[in-house]
Amino acid sequence: MEKIVIDGKHTLSGKITIGGAKNSTVALIPAALLADGVSTIKNVPNITDRDALFDIVKELDCEIVQKGKEIKIDTKNLTNKTISQELSVRLRASYYFMGVLLGKYKHVEIYFPGGCNIGQRPIDLHLKGFKAMGAKVTKNKHKYMLDAEELHGANINLTFASVGATINIMYAASLANGVTTINNAAKEVEIINVADYLNKMGAKVAGAGTSTIVIEGVKKLHGTDIEVIPDRIEAGTYILMGALLGDNLVVDGIIPEHNKALFDKLSEMGVKFTLGRRSVTINRCKNLKPVNVTTEVYPGFPTDLGQPMSVLLTQANGTCIMEETIFENRVGHYPYLQKMGANIELNGSVATIHGKSKLIGTDINATDLRGGSALILAGLIAEGTTTIRDIDYILRGYENIIHKLSSVGAKIRLEEI
Ligand code: UD1
Repeated sequence: MEKIVIDGKHTLSGKITIGGAKNSTVALIPAALLADGVSTIKNVPNITDRDALFDIVKELDCEIVQKGKEIKIDTKNLTNKTISQELSVRLRASYYFMGVLLGKYKHVEIYFPGGCNIGQRPIDLHLKGFKAMGAKVTKNKHKYMLDAEELHGANINLTFASVGATINIMYAASLANGVTTINNAAKEVEIINVADYLNKMGAKVAGAGTSTIVIEGVKKLHGTDIEVIPDRIEAGTYILMGALLGDNLVVDGIIPEHNKALFDKLSEMGVKFTLGRRSVTINRCKNLKPVNVTTEVYPGFPTDLGQPMSVLLTQANGTCIMEETIFENRVGHYPYLQKMGANIELNGSVATIHGKSKLIGTDINATDLRGGSALILAGLIAEGTTTIRDIDYILRGYENIIHKLSSVGAKIRLEEI
């Protein structure tokens, strides 16, 4: 086991290149199983969630060949077996195999998905969609069984614009008979990436990126290639680091529109940055104005950046409110920020953050992926040395984070425990 050790207060300058989006990758890898033949997925990030999905794909007898950031998945020997509990619980996105295998075989057996403990995270909306298409869902202790004589098109109204439910329903509907309409669909950019992939495979998906998605089922899908879009959350995390410690820090390989909500907040706080076509150059702001931030579905302020953002708010001159509205438990990092010296009152999912606080390095624990990256950010600005344990959470979603940060001047390293 390893821990991350950070010596704080070092300026960040140079260039960080952003990898492929975790939340696209974890949807695109299962989607490859919808196709008959070989799919190529490019710009796949080196994260442990990727490896967990590889293990599931192999368990189902598909072949994966990886060359750097490009992977090829061959489904010629694909077998529709029960996905084991040990593999399902390694990540949340194992639920995407439900939509994929239900669409392709009309039968799935899978254990409860795992993932970060950031709230209840039910999958009732996914199941509601499958049921509307004709699937019967049986739950036996920790296992789901989904069966359909025939999957048919349906009109599905999501009561919440869930990313996972939208994508999962798109998968099953792509191989159903007839037309499925998803109303109140999630609009996240990763959904457009997934829809592009499905359409290149021969699916008929229209409206991705809007709140109404219409899918006309087809009989078969074929292998094709797709490139993972840049990770707007990884980008946002480094952009926030730049706002605190940057000396012309360049965050490269981004699509700036995808981070519009973050850039708008940074402008409101007085942070100076220059946008390029695919990059942003950002400088440390010494006089941060206080703001209030509420997480929302896309294109609002992303829930995945709420925790890193809260660290920036500890450095504002005045009181800020950080409100998490999507997941009720995305607050595990706050006690550690308090331990480091931040002045924060936490009431449910609403944090009142009184700045500006001096943070002091200490021993802390990552409690989830984005909370973990928030603690790295805190360690980078803290006086002295910060040690972070339970870093597996962080490595699930940030590729080569130690190397990327060291290369721009951070004093950060892995140490054996
Ligand atoms: C995905 C992302 C996650 C991101 C989130 C919101 C992946 C693997 N994860 O998570 O990083 O933070 O989108 O952008 O892509 N809900 C239900 N019933 C359901 C489904 C969801 O009540 O059937 C609730 C959830 O508990 C949560 C909210 O809806 O409160 C949002 O969930 P959802 O958009 O589905 O997030 P995930 O797909 O789990």
